[in-house]
Amino acid sequence: MIKTAIMGFGTVGSGVYEIIRDMTSADAAGDEIEVKYILDIRDFDNEEIKPLLTKNFDDILNDNDVKIAAEVMGGLHPAYEFTKQLLEQGKSVVTSNKELVATYGPELLEIAKKNNAMYLFEASVGGGIPIIRPMTVCTKANDIMAVAGILNGTTNFILNEMFTKGKDFTEALSDAQAKGYAEKNPAADVEGHDACRKLAILASMAWGKYVNYNDIPTCGITDITSRDVAYAEKMSSVIKLIGYAKMNEEGKIYASVSPMIVSEENILSDVNGVFNAVMIHGNYLGDAVFYGKGAGKLPTASAVVADILDCSRHIDVKKHNILWECSDENIIADSNEQTLTFLVRCTDSCENIENIFDEVEFVSLFNDETAFVIRNVKRGKLNAGLEKINGVIHALGVLDFI
Ligand code: HSE
Repeated sequence: MIKTAIMGFGTVGSGVYEIIRDMTSADAAGDEIEVKYILDIRDFDNEEIKPLLTKNFDDILNDNDVKIAAEVMGGLHPAYEFTKQLLEQGKSVVTSNKELVATYGPELLEIAKKNNAMYLFEASVGGGIPIIRPMTVCTKANDIMAVAGILNGTTNFILNEMFTKGKDFTEALSDAQAKGYAEKNPAADVEGHDACRKLAILASMAWGKYVNYNDIPTCGITDITSRDVAYAEKMSSVIKLIGYAKMNEEGKIYASVSPMIVSEENILSDVNGVFNAVMIHGNYLGDAVFYGKGAGKLPTASAVVADILDCSRHIDVKKHNILWECSDENIIADSNEQTLTFLVRCTDSCENIENIFDEVEFVSLFNDETAFVIRNVKRGKLNAGLEKINGVIHALGVLDFI
């Protein structure tokens, strides 16, 4: 029986405990792993877990019986210090902590390798959806050309409620928080930072080079209103918060997180509620889509437990098939060079707009504003033109996967 520790008894941590406790069938490794400690600074009135609770990280670090720890605390500190110390002791660590993986992934993966431990993070992207392991193993014969995904359950839930129930943003966010989808600080969800970290992890997986999330242009959904919903509907589309990354001809990566107009013909338009989906395009595989619950206690915890089982089955011979090369050079391409189609909303006149841009298609919906679609324009050129236009509300990109 392999002993494990759960560090953090929040939404995901309590789910990890329950799944391990309830695993009964031999196939699900019922007698393979056992929780020896639960680390949390809080007190809990739960008799069942009381014997396992500790507030002292050293209990886990110094216990030779503990071979695997699940870091489900969230945040950078002390999660980073705890993970590093455990890996240095040769203990494997699994995590759902996308912020930690996106920030310290290269270093922690190196430390794991050096100390014959494993550092796994299936739950860090897409909650319960298997995506890290397929990208590590199953798609390895391919060159990945592009990745696009709905990577945040909270914002997808909010946008879906706005589209289908006409709810306003604040009401839909409260519902997402009540369902346990949102981050402790939901600004990380609605401003796109959570999706950005997940995109950085996916891009690092896709191209084997560390993509720093600070280099990815990111815009959240806080400016999306019922008028945007109306324009999208008129274009037979929906709006989704899309994380997008594509390798260009110079070997640099166009990457962005932003609300985008997604045509009803695109499979991502049907990803609703808390569901996430990741599309990848491989040179041999073509398009593949990974779909499932991107947030929530048990879906996310199931991915954490799967990583624990993977570690327990490699206690003697560790696998080290994820390493991210770090380079001083910025591998993110200049987004001004990226060509996209945009929907622009502003209060300027059609004449002025036609003087500035060669070809635009007007979308007529509201008397007090002007909206137009401009096709296949470089983002830099669009932005330069928008500086000459009055009352720009915003420009939304239209998703064109590859
Ligand atoms: N707040 C995140 C989301 C949780 O809504 O997707 C899962 O990472």
